Amino acid sequence: MAKPSFSTPLGMVDILPEETPSWRALEQIIHEEAAKFNFQEIRTPILEPTELIRRGVGQLTDIVTKEIFAFKKGDTHYVLRPELTAPVVRSYVQHHLDQRGGIQKLYYIGPMFRAERPQKGRQRQFHQFGLEVIGSADPVADIETIAFMMRVYQRIGIKNFTLKLNSVGDPESRERYKQVLRDYLEPKRSQLSELSQQRLDKNPMRILDSKEPEDQKFIAKAPTIQDYLNEDSSIHFEQVKCGLESLDIAFEIDPHLVRGMDYYTRTAFELSSPILGSQDALAGGGRYDLLVEEIGGKPTPAVGFAAGMERLLIACEKLNVSLAKKSALDIYIVSLGEDARNWALSILPELRTHSLSASMDYTGKSMRAQMKEANRELSRFTLIVGENELSTGTFILRNMTESNEVAISASEIVSNVLAYKKS
Ligand code: HAM
Repeated sequence: MAKPSFSTPLGMVDILPEETPSWRALEQIIHEEAAKFNFQEIRTPILEPTELIRRGVGQLTDIVTKEIFAFKKGDTHYVLRPELTAPVVRSYVQHHLDQRGGIQKLYYIGPMFRAERPQKGRQRQFHQFGLEVIGSADPVADIETIAFMMRVYQRIGIKNFTLKLNSVGDPESRERYKQVLRDYLEPKRSQLSELSQQRLDKNPMRILDSKEPEDQKFIAKAPTIQDYLNEDSSIHFEQVKCGLESLDIAFEIDPHLVRGMDYYTRTAFELSSPILGSQDALAGGGRYDLLVEEIGGKPTPAVGFAAGMERLLIACEKLNVSLAKKSALDIYIVSLGEDARNWALSILPELRTHSLSASMDYTGKSMRAQMKEANRELSRFTLIVGENELSTGTFILRNMTESNEVAISASEIVSNVLAYKKS
C-alpha cells in the first residue's frame, strides 16, 4: 500500500523553527512600538459570521465574491476572516467599547485567509499586524495611524518604499464623482475590459484600480476625485497632508488609489515597495467613517491600517536585514550510561531555575554524537558526565566558544556558567 503523503493546503505554509525567531522578533517590535503609542491589543476569533464580512467588506468586492473561505455548520454560515477591520468593529459594537469613554486604539497581529492565486508574497493564509482607531474624525487620528505604520518599518530598517495617499471623499463627494466618472467612461464602455464594464454599473471607482491593459489609457485621462471633494473632505485631506509633512513622512498623492474594500471614506493610503516585485503592497489602510453604523453601532468615525507580515519579512530578506538569530544554548549535558543520564535529567531543573537554557541527549547516542549535537545547538558549554565523574564528584565543564575546560564540582556548575554569561 502506498505511504500516506500530506502537505499544507495550497497557498498555506509552515513557519519552521529556523524562521520563528524572526517572527517573534517582529511581533516583539510591534508590541513595543504599540505600547509607545498607547495602543491596546485585541484578539478576535479566526471565524466570523459570513454576513459580517459581506456587509463590512462589501458584497461586490473581490474578497467577498471570490476569496472567502466559507462553510456552514448547523444553520450558521462562517468565513475564515479575510481581514480584521470588520471583526474589530464587530467586537467594538458587541462589547459597547464606546461606553468605556475615549477613543479605542486597538492593534492586532494574526492570520488572515483569502483564497487568492498563490505566488511569492501572496498566500491563502497570511499574517497581518494592524491598528484601528475608533471614535475620532480628527486628522490627528489618521496621522498617528500612518506614523505608527511607518515607525515599525523605520525601526526595522526598511526604507525602500513609497507611501501613496488619496482621499476617496465622503459619501456626498463620492456620489458626485461617481456620476462624473460614469459620464466619462460610458461612451468608452465597449472598449473597457469585461470586469470594468461590470464595475461601471456597480462601482465605477473600482475601475481606477484595474490592472487590465485595455483600461489604462482611459484611467490615465479620467477625472480625479480631488476636483469633486466637498469642503469638509477637502479640508480634512489638507490637514492630513500637513500633519504628515510636519512629521517628515514623505508621501505621493495618487488620485487613482481606491483600495479593495467598500468601507473607505476620505483618507486612503498604501505603502508599496519595488523590491517586492508584483505583490508590492506592504501595507494599506484608510478612514472608514460609516462602518461602525453599517455593522449595527452608532455613527462613529474610524481609521486604520493593516500590514502584511510575510511581505515585511521578504523585504528584510532582500535587504539583508536580520531580525533575530537562533538563540544559543547555555549548556548541553553529555551523559554516558544509565546513571549519568538520570543524573543529567535531575540537574536540568536547577539550571533552568537560574534562567539558563539547558538540554541533554534523549536517545542514548555516543559521546561523539552528543558533542556533535551540542555543537549544532551552538551550546556555549558542555558538561561531561560518566561513571567516573559520578563516583569522584568532579565534572569537566567545557567552554565550547573558547575551547578550554575546567574540572568542577556539581555545586559549581551554575555559578561558572552564569559568571561566563555575565562577563
Ligand atoms: P489590505 O490592503 O487588503 O487591507 O491588506 C493589508 C496588507 O495585507 C496588504 O498590503 C498586504 O501586505 C497584506 N496582504 C493582503 N493579502 C495578502 C495575501 N494574500 N498574502 C500576503 N499578504 C497579503 C486590509 O486588510 C484592511 N483591513 C486594512 C485596514 C485596516 N483598513 C482600515 N483598517
